[in-house]
Amino acid sequence: MVATVERTLNPTRVPLITNYPSFRKWDKSALEQKLTDTPMCIYVHIPFCTQRCSFCYYKTVDLKDHRPEVEIYVDALCQEIDMATERFDLGNRPIHAVYFGGGTPSLLVEHQFEKIVAALRKNFTHFENKVQFSLEAEPLTVSKSKMDTLAQLGVTRLSMGIQSFNDQIIKLSGRGHDEKQAYRAIDIAQKAGNGQWTINIDLLSGLAGETDETWQESVECALNTGVESITVYKMEAFANTEVFKLGVREEALNLPDEEQEMGFMRYAMERFERANYLPWSFFTYTKNGCDESRYISSIWRGMDFYGFGVSAFGSLGDSLLQNTSDLEKYSSIVQGAQLPLTRGYRFTSFDLMVREVLMGMKLLRLDLKGFKKRHGLRLEKLCYATLKELEAEDFVSVSSEAIDLTPKGILYGDYVGQTLSDALKAMA
Ligand SMILES: C[S@@+](CC[C@H](N)C(=O)[O-])C[C@H]1O[C@@H](n2cnc3c(N)ncnc32)[C@H](O)[C@@H]1O
Ligand code: SF4
Repeated sequence: MVATVERTLNPTRVPLITNYPSFRKWDKSALEQKLTDTPMCIYVHIPFCTQRCSFCYYKTVDLKDHRPEVEIYVDALCQEIDMATERFDLGNRPIHAVYFGGGTPSLLVEHQFEKIVAALRKNFTHFENKVQFSLEAEPLTVSKSKMDTLAQLGVTRLSMGIQSFNDQIIKLSGRGHDEKQAYRAIDIAQKAGNGQWTINIDLLSGLAGETDETWQESVECALNTGVESITVYKMEAFANTEVFKLGVREEALNLPDEEQEMGFMRYAMERFERANYLPWSFFTYTKNGCDESRYISSIWRGMDFYGFGVSAFGSLGDSLLQNTSDLEKYSSIVQGAQLPLTRGYRFTSFDLMVREVLMGMKLLRLDLKGFKKRHGLRLEKLCYATLKELEAEDFVSVSSEAIDLTPKGILYGDYVGQTLSDALKAMA
């Protein structure tokens, strides 16, 4: 259905229009917002790993034993932080959350963490006021000494890739650790954090060889560790993965089908609910709702962020910006005192609406009043028919305040966000 507004013409010489909206609608609150710097998040990308997992679609460099390039990269990163902060005038902005992602940030060594954090502290006046500092880790790269350094540097959330607690499944996925080493890494991290940080662990649903029994065992093991947060990603066999090459094309791997995978997720959701692990997004469940990733939730709500490092991207105002994905180019451009930015995108106001629906629904609830305030339109009117259908099929509940995902909506992940944004796009 396409919404149109018809009006009968009534030609007159109307009084001069001096502005829109009229001065009557202006107030002080908008002024206050303009006079304070708006908060932003910082993302730092570490593109290296010590292994190449068969399911992984990230573009990472498998280092094995050759590590001199890490030092060169860390130096380039620090130089980029200096240059980009100045170029975009970011230095005095309030810092909301910081996220070191990868790849495997935990493969850096102590002095490299210190160098990067020193560059951030030097450039961002308000770095110390952030509400959360997250870092991604992999079990074999976790040591007591590194964890102590990270605690000293102010990390408050560690996110560890575990994927499975079953030795055979882990091995089939091409990862270097086993169940024991996963427990050991979690234990070291819990002790070193000593209450300063919360720990999230990632599980992957749909790995090769997974059965109901092995999956249920992994979910139980994850809960038994007592970590504050558990994320379950659905394994996507993208074309650049080993799993795709071996399994999807040649059917040589025993991959669970869609129905089985859905069963795994349904089991995890029921089990998490019984253990009082509550969802804040459709894939992350936290103990008593305690450990939302403030970086992820804020950027999904549209907060500005800057991405430092190869292939990193960010969003400033009405634009997205991304660095080159070529590691050699990244370092040489930065060494030549240039920013390694390679492409960007300027949002239209329509993009901002669609983006808010798509990203907002990931957080389980879309604030309808906020949407009207930001975009001037009522989403519940624009998408009336689609919302009615989604409600009838029990994917959402709709009130005058918000659209909320039901447990079925959560199970289907991006389905509701995608359906609503398709309905919006059909009007464009
Ligand atoms: C950057 S990695 C996390 C840290 C570390 N590199 C590790 O693997 O232990 C982020 C997460 O992405 C998820 N991931 C990787 N490949 C995936 C795929 N094909 N589909 C869905 N999730 C995937 C994994 O669960 C992984 O823990
Ligand atoms: S899952 Fe993690 S460790 Fe494995 S290749 Fe991907 S980023 Fe590296």
